Amino acid sequence: MKPKVWQERFSVELDPYIEALNRSITFDHRLGPYDVQVSLVWVKALHRCGSLDDDDLAAITKGLQSIGQELSEASFEFREQDEDIHMAIERRLEELIGAAAGRLHTGRSRNDQVATDLSLYARDQNDKLAGALIPVIQQLVAMAEEHIETAFPGHTHLQQAEVISLGQILLAHAWRLKGDVDFLTHVKSTTSACPLGAGALGGSPVAVDREWISLELGFAGPTETSVESVESRDFVLDLLYAMARLGLHLSNLAEDFIIWNSQEFGFLTLDDSVATGSSLLAHKKNPDVFELIRGKCGRLVGHLTGFMTTMKGLPSGYNKDLQEDKEPFFDAVDTLRLVLPALEATLKGVSFTLEKIAEKLFPALKTERIVRYLLTKGIPFREAYAVAGKLVRESESRGMALHELPLEVMQSVSEVIEADLKEELMEGWQIPKEGVPGGSNKRSLSRQISILQEWLRNKPVAGLQ
Ligand code: ARG
Repeated sequence: MKPKVWQERFSVELDPYIEALNRSITFDHRLGPYDVQVSLVWVKALHRCGSLDDDDLAAITKGLQSIGQELSEASFEFREQDEDIHMAIERRLEELIGAAAGRLHTGRSRNDQVATDLSLYARDQNDKLAGALIPVIQQLVAMAEEHIETAFPGHTHLQQAEVISLGQILLAHAWRLKGDVDFLTHVKSTTSACPLGAGALGGSPVAVDREWISLELGFAGPTETSVESVESRDFVLDLLYAMARLGLHLSNLAEDFIIWNSQEFGFLTLDDSVATGSSLLAHKKNPDVFELIRGKCGRLVGHLTGFMTTMKGLPSGYNKDLQEDKEPFFDAVDTLRLVLPALEATLKGVSFTLEKIAEKLFPALKTERIVRYLLTKGIPFREAYAVAGKLVRESESRGMALHELPLEVMQSVSEVIEADLKEELMEGWQIPKEGVPGGSNKRSLSRQISILQEWLRNKPVAGLQ
């Protein structure tokens, strides 16, 4: 086995158990393409400031390009001795071009290198996550548009509280996910400074043009201070939080659909292509997708809290603990990579069972109409509210719906009540045309839908590769 680059400093070879613990190649190989990109810019920067001659620049560039090719074709061979992706690429470069490979790492440290690779990865994933959320939001908005007029039980404390539009609930989920896209965009804007050139911690000993490097790599400029550049993983924490927050929203959404799908609610059915069966109970059709989405939120939140705990208590400068940034980060991305397209497909397989929804609307929700009626008669709100409460009690004790109460009974509770209230109580549920902005009325719902559609129109949809 080839000795380590730092072997000369040590009298014996590294213990294999320590070697195994130290190694990050098993997971950081996915940074390969970013590492090549960073190195290609780095050698140009060395050349620009006179630290690399034309021949070495050409040889290293060619070698790195072949490595980039090998990585993209998955033909790059990793070796037992490769400690991490940076060392693996350097080792391969030497195999390809010989001694000139030794000049690649001039003036740079793996500390600024890995921070730069990971920042580039984070910026890419940020766009991809936002792009994968767009079709989910589109689908929710389409469903909301279809169900503007569907009267639906709005719950508080999981008790029927008010009749609202089903569209309003679907839009609430869409708005929360739009908030996630906006938040991801904000997080990306905070990962716009390039750490390369910070060296091990005190700045590169070579006078590279950090401004130029940053722009070449697509950043807005270099980081201001070298120590912070190598020790900070705020950009990882921010994206982990953005992903955990998104996971939370997806979990809440999933929970709604799981409940609505139960026999007890019966508000929707799932297409066979997006539901799963049971190995034992022949009649079962389970909403596994939604349960898995709800379940996976746990690991997204866990990765955030886990990595915050890793960061807590680190002294200034680079510490190897930072190598622990990658697995939670990658797993969170992979989790969402699985979840978002599956959610989009599952939402498309949802059909709301309108008769069941109408059937389940609790008749006592019509108290709101009683209160509104009494208010128009000049009764103060608190009194009107008390009358409505008494009428509900009467209807419960007599085992009849509110509109079935005899007029005399109603009038014994409040003398301003006339026969027209009974008629109003008999009317079916309708989503009102007008009402406050943001409320469950047709004007507000249509407005929300057009705002979201307008916003969606300009958003790029991205795959999650
Ligand atoms: N594999 C390391 C990481 O992921 C690269 C940086 C190593 N730096 C060092 N000083 N040993 O953090």
